[in-house]
Amino acid sequence: MKSGKPPKAIRKMKIDVKENVSLRPYNTFGVEAKAAKFAAISSPEQFQQAFLHLQKDEPLLIIGGGSNVLFTQDFPGLVLKNEINQFEVTRGDSSQVKIKIGAGENWHAIVRRTLKEGYFGLENLALIPGTSGAAPIQNIGAYGVEVSDRLLSVEYIELGGNSLAEKTCENCDFGYRDSWFKRHLGEFFITSISLLLHTDPQPVITYPALKAALGLKQIANPSPHDVAVTVEEIRRSKLPDPMVLGNAGSFFKNPILSDSNVDKLKADYPLLPFFPSAEGHSKIPAAWLIEQCGWKGFKDGNAGVHQHQPLVLVNHGGATGADIHALAKRIMDGVEDRFGIELTPEVNIL
Ligand code: FAD
Ligand code: EPU
Repeated sequence: MKSGKPPKAIRKMKIDVKENVSLRPYNTFGVEAKAAKFAAISSPEQFQQAFLHLQKDEPLLIIGGGSNVLFTQDFPGLVLKNEINQFEVTRGDSSQVKIKIGAGENWHAIVRRTLKEGYFGLENLALIPGTSGAAPIQNIGAYGVEVSDRLLSVEYIELGGNSLAEKTCENCDFGYRDSWFKRHLGEFFITSISLLLHTDPQPVITYPALKAALGLKQIANPSPHDVAVTVEEIRRSKLPDPMVLGNAGSFFKNPILSDSNVDKLKADYPLLPFFPSAEGHSKIPAAWLIEQCGWKGFKDGNAGVHQHQPLVLVNHGGATGADIHALAKRIMDGVEDRFGIELTPEVNIL
């Protein structure tokens, strides 16, 4: 953003900047941390106005649903809570629709709304917490679909620039829990995303756990609604609800190893599960590695490892971000000592 006098339209828009604000309600781990300054913004113009409140060298943090962050200390700068709403459908000639979604829209509410309005393609991504604007950052994925499979483009403001920019899906450099945005966090503010959905159902039911659950319900040709409901059931059976037990979903990414390294490990650990990934590589479930090290259900004070899904670290109540971070580091050391595998956190540690 250029310094100097802001445009008149921006000067007129008042935002309410509060000081010394607790971030506990704004992160799903439910840990305490204070923001020196805090404001909610509901338009790109308000973001530009808020930006003017920044002193030189003062840090800025955008927060969506706070479901992929761990605050380990107070934040010394300005935290902007993204509340930009928009839902704009453009119908194509065929069965395709383009939907532009404000970055502050709740992701699961968008999944529900698209299903209800007859626009299909997001059903496998039901019940993922957080905002739509954060979805492309780590390329959210679940049950066989990633948001990059449905994404047309991302609109954003580069911090230091002064206008909206756009990246098409091909230019986002998406990977497993990865994107250009993930690698440039703090350099941009995503204002909206555009998705390409269909009016004719094209269910994706290749993911083994989803296929098995639909099989148990004797649903051979599931509707998108069946897929969403079944995904929600699986998720509820495994993952803790952050409203009940603080967490940020998977704390670590599943490591991807070359097939030759998997073969070496399998010599020592014949039961090692692995799933073919990119050419010549396989994904190893971090949950299995952590469980083998004996951490499943482990509790250290108020920080813990979930009893059903050891990839999820939890706040039993009153844990600090530093407590959870210390436990994460112990787990990483334990897995590296035993298997020689370095786990990478998926959660953004602040
Ligand atoms: P936040 O936590 O608010 O922010 C995450 C990061 O993005 C921060 O660095 C923040 O500064 C930055 N950021 C956020 N919004 C913007 C913006 N508009 N512009 C610029 N920067 C921004 N993830 C999956 O992929 N698959 C799952 O199945 C899944 N399951 C989960 C289950 C549970 C119970 C929980 C708690 C989390 C789960 N997650 C999952 C992780 C999380 O929901 C996603 O990463 C989600 O996209 C985070 O959105 P958010 O709005 O909460 O982001
Ligand atoms: N496993 C164990 N012990 C357990 C649980 C699981 O050994 O207690 C092993 C099993 O081998 C199992 C495997 O882990 O087959 C995979 O478990 P699960 O199906 O629960 O998936 P995951 O790999 O742990 C990933 C994502 C989730 C996503 C699900 C469904 C990552 C880091 N996590 O979990 O995403 O919802 O698949 O697609 O890729 C998130 O990113 O926050 C998240 C929750």
